[in-house]
Parts: sequence; C-alpha cells; structure tokens
Amino acid sequence: MADLETQIEKLSAAIAALELQRTNLGDAAVDPAVAVLREQLAQLETGRAPTGDERKLVTIVFADVSGFTALSEKLDPEKVRELINACFDWLVPVVQKYDGTIDKFIGDEIMALFGAPVAHEDDAERALRAALDMMDAIVAFNHANETALGLHLGINTGLVVAGQIGGHNRRDYSVMGDAVNLAARLEDASSEGEIFVGPTTYRLTQRIFDFEPVPPLRLKGKEAPVEVHRLIGAKVVPKSTRGIEGLRAPLVGRDKELEEIRRALANLGAGQGSTVAILAEAGLGKSRLIAETRRLLPANVTWAEGRALSFTAGMSYWLAREILLSLLNVKPEAAQSEIMAALQKSLDGQSEIYPFLARLLELPMDAPMERRVKLLSSEALRSGILEALRGYVRRRAQQEPLLLVWEDLHWCDPSSWELLQMLVPLSNEVPLLLLCAARLEDNRLSEVLQENNGYCGHHIIRLSPLTRVEVAGSFNNC
Ligand SMILES: Nc1ncnc2c1ncn2[C@@H]1O[C@H](COP(=O)(O)OP(=O)(O)OP(=O)(O)O)[C@@H](O)[C@H]1O
Ligand SMILES: [Mg+2]
Repeated sequence: MADLETQIEKLSAAIAALELQRTNLGDAAVDPAVAVLREQLAQLETGRAPTGDERKLVTIVFADVSGFTALSEKLDPEKVRELINACFDWLVPVVQKYDGTIDKFIGDEIMALFGAPVAHEDDAERALRAALDMMDAIVAFNHANETALGLHLGINTGLVVAGQIGGHNRRDYSVMGDAVNLAARLEDASSEGEIFVGPTTYRLTQRIFDFEPVPPLRLKGKEAPVEVHRLIGAKVVPKSTRGIEGLRAPLVGRDKELEEIRRALANLGAGQGSTVAILAEAGLGKSRLIAETRRLLPANVTWAEGRALSFTAGMSYWLAREILLSLLNVKPEAAQSEIMAALQKSLDGQSEIYPFLARLLELPMDAPMERRVKLLSSEALRSGILEALRGYVRRRAQQEPLLLVWEDLHWCDPSSWELLQMLVPLSNEVPLLLLCAARLEDNRLSEVLQENNGYCGHHIIRLSPLTRVEVAGSFNNC
C-alpha cells in the first residue's frame, strides 16, 4: 500500500513538473506525455483503498481583512464583531458568485476553496476573478460604512486531500496539504491591497491575467525558494488558456479548414463579410484555429475579440461588453475615465448611441445624456443597447474591414446571443467577419446560421480529432 502511495506521489510530481515546463517545451510535447502519465495515475488510483477522502486539484484563497485592530482601540468589541460580520457579508457573495466554497472563517480571515467540493475546469481563474472582485467589494464596503479596512490575499493551487477532517466529535469538510499551507504563507507575505499567487496558479492563469513577479518566498523545510507573483488584473484580450503562446508546437493538419478561413479573410480584405462557425468538442483545436487566423490577418483588418466563460452564461451582455471593450482597445478593469475617453473618441459625432453604450459599460453620464435612457422601459433600453451595438459595429466595419471573434459561445449569455443573431445578417452587408467558436453541446450557432440560410458566405467548420499519425508526426517535429 505504501508503495502504491509512493508511486502515486511520484507520478503526480512528474505530471506537475511537466506542466511547469509547458511554456518551454510546447503543448505538442507536453500533452501526449502528460496523457500517458495521467492514464497510469488513474490506473494506480483505482487500486487505492477507498477512504472517503479524495485527492483534488484545488485553488485555495486566504483573504485577510486588515484594519480591525485599529478599530478595536476606538470601538467596543461588540461593535467590532458586528463590523467584521457585515464586512464578511460583502465578501462571501463574491466567492459564491464564482461558485467557490467558504471553507472557514479564522478571526478576520476567510479561507475559500475553488475546486472542492465542486470542481470546474477553470477554478484557478474563478479564484483570481473573485479575488479582484473582493478588492472592489472592500472599497465599496468602506464607502458605505465610512471605514478604512484593507484586504490582502494569498492564492495557491495544488493537489490536496479533501474530505471530512477533524476529531471524533466534530468533522467538517475541508482540505489538507502543502498547497493549503503555501496559500496561507502567501497571504502572510502580502501587504494591504496585494494579491499574491503561487507558481501553479500563475501558470494556469498567466494567459488571462497580468502579473508582476515579486521576491520568492523561502519556506521552512523547502530547499528551493517558491516563485511568487502579484496579480495586477485581467488582460484586455485574454490569450487562449491552452498553450497557443508563441505557437511553438507546429500546427498539425487542418489544411482544409485553414483554406476556408484564408478565403474568408481574403474576401473580408476585399470588402465582403461572412460568418464562420468553428464547432468541435473541447480540446479539438477551435482556439488554435483562431490563433492561426490571427497570424494570417491582412494588415487592413481590425481584430477584436471576446470570450465567454463558464460562469458568465447568466451575466447579461458579458460577451457583448467584452467585444465592445476590445473594439475600444481598453482593459475591462481600466479606470472609468479611460473607458469613457475611449468611447467618446471612437464615437465622434454619433452621440445618439453614446448613452446606450455608456449605460452598457456602466459609465457615469451628465444629466441630459442620462435622461435619454433613464425613463425607458427595460425592454426599450434593451433594444436600444442592442441597436446601438449593431450601429457601432456597422460603422466600424464600414471604416475598416472588421473581424470579431466570439470564443466559447457555448457559455454565451442570452443578451449577447441576441446581438450575435443581429450581426449575422449584417456580416453579409458590410466588411464584417464573425469568427465564432463553440463546443458541440450547444447547437444555437448552427441554428442561427440555418435561419440565415438565404445569405451567402456563412460556413460551419466541424473539427474532427486529429489522427494518430498526425499527432505522432507533430511530436517528432517539435
Ligand atoms: N492542429 C493542431 N496542431 C497542433 N496542436 C493543436 C492543434 N489543434 C489543437 N492543438 C493544441 O491542442 C490544445 C487544445 O486545443 P484548443 O485549445 O485550440 O482546443 P479548443 O477546441 O479551443 O478547446 P476548448 O473547447 O476547451 O476551448 C492546444 O494546446 C492547441 O495548441
Ligand atoms: Mg478554446
């Protein structure tokens, strides 16, 4: 049994080591090797005696609220406790919004988990988005309560043992392992306003967020110092979460599909738009094809993109807003003044649509501007926003051929879907190429294209798995 555990440990460590080398080695080298190791690991794990506990890859967040000590000197303990609870009431829903779990409260600290008991494919990303939102929540809390509390967080991802933990009298679901201790140490090392992230979290999310390195942490019992990054914010245009960075691994096959895309791009450059839908199971190469398209982009074409996420399917206009911000070339977390300046500059004289787009981006407006949207019924506001977006996209496409990427449409929210449905016919009138990617489980995209069957220039590209020969070839080439 001990041997089995040692082998499992060794295999897990080998997988982790390979994953850390992904950026250097490239996906085509790492993916097949990791797949083999994972298969061996799965076989070993089936031989393990059931204990009720599970090994899980979890992202652990420690969030510490600072400033209560100063308050305790001024207020009575009862009042301070009330404030702590009120503050937690603002922070806890943020964790829940991203489907994380509160593990425990430790004094004025929160420990939260992403990946246990419920796992998602993007738990590390969810944890970081929650951390950024918690920073905003503490500012809003201070504003509402005239307090000056601060927040700092440590976040780490790793394999943990998850299950009922505790003595005979009381057991609670929790997680244990080195990864948890490191998250706590990262929180200790961070100062007010900082979010420190461990190496695995960084590797999993570096294509989506901006970070800056900070001095490594020396930990008791560990020879090598631990690499630490400070989270800055989300990137304007996230790169694919799978390794397209640098495209080191050569593209395998997909000649026919690329030819179709080349044709659509050539037509776009010549002033003829279209809609291209890439449909395939997870991991078959939709994002990779989009990345290849970007490399083929004619110089006169503007590129903007948005990506739906698994937790944004219920967030109205999420994808539409992402695409608008990308068109304005500003980061989603940019200061309101910066977003406002970009919108004003981009709209020139088109002020009739300004209040609708400003409302969509939650920008402040002066009173006369505000009046134009304030008294509208919610239905009139919705159609005003969608029309404004269509008008804006039309105008941009008329100025310069425009390519809009809609990534991961299987998670698209309903209002952005409505916009896409309005843009598909437009892509036949103006130089607009809509490049959409969705997993097969969602057939809304095929339906939209079928509804627009009367138009020419709409293609569906269905990706089938690469053949063994193709994959083996790519492995030899890298
Ligand atoms: N034709 C190809 N040649 C070489 N590598 C490829 C090819 N297609 C995909 N890959 C690689 O396989 C991995 C998964 O591909 P990709 O991320 O594009 O899948 P996806 O269909 O977008 O998946 P998801 O639905 O999860 O977003 C990536 O590392 C990608 O670079
Ligand atoms: Mg993808």
